[in-house]
Amino acid sequence: MGRNSMKNIAAMGSVFLLGAAVLSNAAQASGDVIKPPSRNWSFQGVFGTFDRGSLQRGFQVYNGVCAGCHSLRLVAYRNLMDIGFTEDQVTKIAAEKEVKDGPNDEGEMFDRPARPSDRFVKPFPNENAARAANNGAFPPDLSLMVKARKDGANYLHALMTGYKEPPAGEKVPEGMAYNEYFPGKQIAMPSPLSEDGVEYTDKTKATVAQMASDVTTFLAWAAEPELEARKRLGVKVLLFLLVLTGLLYAVKRRIWADVH
Ligand code: HEC
Repeated sequence: MGRNSMKNIAAMGSVFLLGAAVLSNAAQASGDVIKPPSRNWSFQGVFGTFDRGSLQRGFQVYNGVCAGCHSLRLVAYRNLMDIGFTEDQVTKIAAEKEVKDGPNDEGEMFDRPARPSDRFVKPFPNENAARAANNGAFPPDLSLMVKARKDGANYLHALMTGYKEPPAGEKVPEGMAYNEYFPGKQIAMPSPLSEDGVEYTDKTKATVAQMASDVTTFLAWAAEPELEARKRLGVKVLLFLLVLTGLLYAVKRRIWADVH
């Protein structure tokens, strides 16, 4: 290959890189989404575990507020025992909801109270009903939401506490709310949390920020209930590798001891 063609290839390469850089900058600028502030979560880090109190309060918020519009189809009532509710409590929580079951001996469908083995009951029978009740917008299932969004826990907290008056000149149509953290800044979900919106059984003061952080912790657990086991295993594996390294080093010294 001649010198010139090498030069050409190099030049083409730099043009390409420059183009890519410009494009990715443009993409970031056009997104124009505000990065959610970072918060401290009990479940982050290598040794992170879910704060049990926060999880249970978070369930209270979920059940009292979010469950009116959103489903949580991957979680069953009995899973709540994993976050510290007793069997009796779970049976009572489930029995407050109704599920359609059947057909019975007469071939008819019937309603019965939910059981611990049932998945969380969804608020609307189907997507159309959900849209009809929400100005045409569909409240998405929240089971995996913390994983589905970038920087999920921080994003959810910011979203729930980020409702504001729109700046002068910005038009927000009927049925929409202004929220800087939502892509496009206009969201069809009305601000879900309000001061003292739930009465916590453990007497924690139910501020909007407190409820946002509890319900986010609860949804992080819903999205990854095995997080604690995964982290415990990770720590064990690291310890094992550390010991193995020591052993291998000792063996290596033994084997090479005679070679000078
Ligand atoms: C009155 C009904 C209603 C309630 C109550 C409600 N939501 Fe929503 N939610 C919606 C709707 C509708 C959307 C879809 C918004 C859109 O696409 O503009 C939504 C969207 C969301 C999203 C997705 C945002 C995204 O990035 O796509 C999250 C997360 C969310 N809700 C969390 C919650 C939580 C947590 C609660 C309880 C504290 C809650 N919602 C209570 C109606 C509701």
